[in-house]
Amino acid sequence: MKIEVILTPAELPALKQRDLRNAACVVFDVLRATSAFVAALHNGARAIVPVSEISEALARRQKQPDVLLGGERDGVRIRAAQTGGVDFDLGNSPREYTPDKVCGKTIVSTTTNGTRALRAGAGAKTVLAASFLNLAVTAEFLRQLSPAHVVFVCAGTHENTALEDVLAAGALCEMLEVGSSRRDDRTAQRAIPTQFSDSAEIAQRTYAQAKPDLTAVVRTSENARRLLAIPELRDDVPFCLQRDIFPLVAGLEADGAIRVLATAQPSK
Ligand code: MLT
Repeated sequence: MKIEVILTPAELPALKQRDLRNAACVVFDVLRATSAFVAALHNGARAIVPVSEISEALARRQKQPDVLLGGERDGVRIRAAQTGGVDFDLGNSPREYTPDKVCGKTIVSTTTNGTRALRAGAGAKTVLAASFLNLAVTAEFLRQLSPAHVVFVCAGTHENTALEDVLAAGALCEMLEVGSSRRDDRTAQRAIPTQFSDSAEIAQRTYAQAKPDLTAVVRTSENARRLLAIPELRDDVPFCLQRDIFPLVAGLEADGAIRVLATAQPSK
């Protein structure tokens, strides 16, 4: 399995042009889009439709009045002043996507980076939305699928690389490598040979270094510092760093909606 990592949003336009029909794409926006999507699906949302622009979301609502509108600009919920009169129903905090609000609902979401990254990878054969909240089950799904080529896409923060996304991609690299014969100092549990591109090596080594105190390292990131400075959003940072509390595989389907592709037993 050849693994590469898209480290910066600047690489997204080129990714969109690439022939990814034989590849799997795993998109990370740890703070907070993919974390919010996984939380919504865990709490019973039927689907999430990622769109790039506010106007696209409003057009979807016109066609389907029962959809919920979610997302953010500058980290906060999109309001009537930005839409010409419509307040969005939800922001982008995974803690907002509770069963009472989202169960049985379809959510159309637009965020600054996450939905853009999902759209850029949409040409792949398999497109997954991943986070720390569903990392182990995503790793197992990829092991089972065993695609020849996997592209991990770090959504980033504005035009910058997001440390938290690179760390999550690095953690997944390490999980997939476990059992591979590449580094003979690890016991093989599942024989998936992996071939890391340099970007995957960077992500994996960055994670290995940060692993002893991941929370402390993530708190230094651009988006974490922004969220930690907003009282009602600061708890999103520790929330999004929880491991495997929502063991579901979230995949983008042919109709452009993200749904649950697979689930696993909650980790004890
Ligand atoms: C994004 O998509 O840019 C992020 O998820 C933004 C955020 O949630 O703060």
